[in-house]
Amino acid sequence: MVSETPLEKMRERSRVTIDGPERAPHRSMYRAMGFTDQDFRQPFIGLANLSTEVTPCNFHLSTVAGEVKVGIRAAGGTPVEFPTITVSDAIAMGHQGMKGSLISREIIADSIEVVAFSEGFDALAAVGGCDKNLPGILMAAARLNIPTVVLYGGTMMPGHFHGHDVSIEDVFEAVGAHAAGRMSGEELDALERVACPGPGTCGGLFTANTMGTLVETLGMARLGTSAIPAMHPDRASAARGVGSQVMRTLADDIRPRDVLTRKAFENAIRVAVALGGSTNSVLHLLAIAGEAQVPLSLDDFDRISHETPHIGNLKPGGQYLMADLHRVGGVPLVLRRLSEAGLLHEDAMTITGRTIGEELRDYPLSGSEEASRIVFPVSNPLHQDGALVILKGNLAPEGAVLKVTDSSGSVQFTGKARVFDGEEAAFEAISEGQVESGEVVVIRYEGPQGGPGMREMLSVTAAIVGQGHVSDVAMVTDGRFSGATRGPMVGHVAPEAWVGGPLALVKDGDSITIDTVAREISVALSEEELKDRRDLWRRPDPSYTRGALAKYQRLFSSASRGARTTIWDD
Ligand code: FES
Repeated sequence: MVSETPLEKMRERSRVTIDGPERAPHRSMYRAMGFTDQDFRQPFIGLANLSTEVTPCNFHLSTVAGEVKVGIRAAGGTPVEFPTITVSDAIAMGHQGMKGSLISREIIADSIEVVAFSEGFDALAAVGGCDKNLPGILMAAARLNIPTVVLYGGTMMPGHFHGHDVSIEDVFEAVGAHAAGRMSGEELDALERVACPGPGTCGGLFTANTMGTLVETLGMARLGTSAIPAMHPDRASAARGVGSQVMRTLADDIRPRDVLTRKAFENAIRVAVALGGSTNSVLHLLAIAGEAQVPLSLDDFDRISHETPHIGNLKPGGQYLMADLHRVGGVPLVLRRLSEAGLLHEDAMTITGRTIGEELRDYPLSGSEEASRIVFPVSNPLHQDGALVILKGNLAPEGAVLKVTDSSGSVQFTGKARVFDGEEAAFEAISEGQVESGEVVVIRYEGPQGGPGMREMLSVTAAIVGQGHVSDVAMVTDGRFSGATRGPMVGHVAPEAWVGGPLALVKDGDSITIDTVAREISVALSEEELKDRRDLWRRPDPSYTRGALAKYQRLFSSASRGARTTIWDD
């Protein structure tokens, strides 16, 4: 029996679509696009390019993907580029369109999986930017389990306004300030024109940048590639490096599920809570872990957050932007801080075939004073606990998520409920100044199924902050928050109101307590009172009865399980 050569081994999947007389039609189709005999002798590398004109986050990705292709070709592979969808979270924010955002994560995952499956790619490279891109890519990679390397498209540079660096978060908050009469129309217009100076993702440690740091921490991207700003000249060489890396990862047959292990997820949680990353990272890591068949629960986030100091001085809670993190060392700096404190699983595998500890040891980092202002040393942290807190109680028996952005490092808040069914009603009341200090704004029927799609409430939270209620008005919702949200805001309440969760039973004036020290979220109602109200509760009519929104309403699982649509292996 003739043994397989290394090249044949690397072409294990594409041989099925390319080789032999019976595949002449298939090659003919490729020849129509200029593919050559040499191309057919090489491994076929699918390149998912999430480029689009719907958002600046992904506007530049075709250029980046072009460099990845150069790298693949130089390393002896045949790149086959294909697109998938993106929704701009910022542009979808504050209206019904945001209901499509979480759905887009599932479509990205499904579409990459289906294309790679149907075309028989030997390996996969993927370039993504906006919030749902990297989670969708990683979910597909975990399902396909073919060698995969991911490249994050990079952050937008800061804008400058009145001598300060600004990002899109400032524009959202300015809308609230304008509504409250604290900012003129001329000022708002001037800010709008300078806040987003070019391509790249939203500039703070919001959801996209958080997921960028995590894809690197998980070991699915090359170390040092995520914090490079979108328009930085180093991005081109990083992209070519991804092209050559995917060929090496294929040659070594390193699969996503070799990398996406329990240890890798624990490292990712560690980085998310240490940096004060987006609450969405909780949802997405649960979903990716589910696809990788790695057991992970909200309790893991709580435990790790409890034992991890908060060291990231990054917006929205802190002072700096992602571009600043790049200047002082990027994600490797964060990993080095955690590693030196013994808080990193250094033996977690990466796509290079080396462990994250080995990669980190060889990564050049020069310490600077500025670095310690952006990422504090673990021995002298911003706060002793991590910034993401899991709360449970009679208002969220399965759990809820809060990001501590207050300088005190904790939230202890008790106030009277102001209940709204849906985001629009809440935004209107807040814009009209109807919400008062000491109140807890409850926004329900915005969960994965209830929305559907778990809208992000940035317009509402920014309006609250913009009106000067930075920490004296709280919010509780079964929807989500943007990574740019700040203040005492609790999201992901599960079970959601739509399925009869306790949030559906709250009435105006009920007393709600949020306590990050006790890890509690509760409403001051007896079991008996909750039962009486539950007996009278009726689910509202769905807002959408046809089309994608109605379909996904039936498919989404609980936020406490990542709101995935595929839960057969749980
Ligand atoms: Fe794409 Fe913010 S809208 S990262």
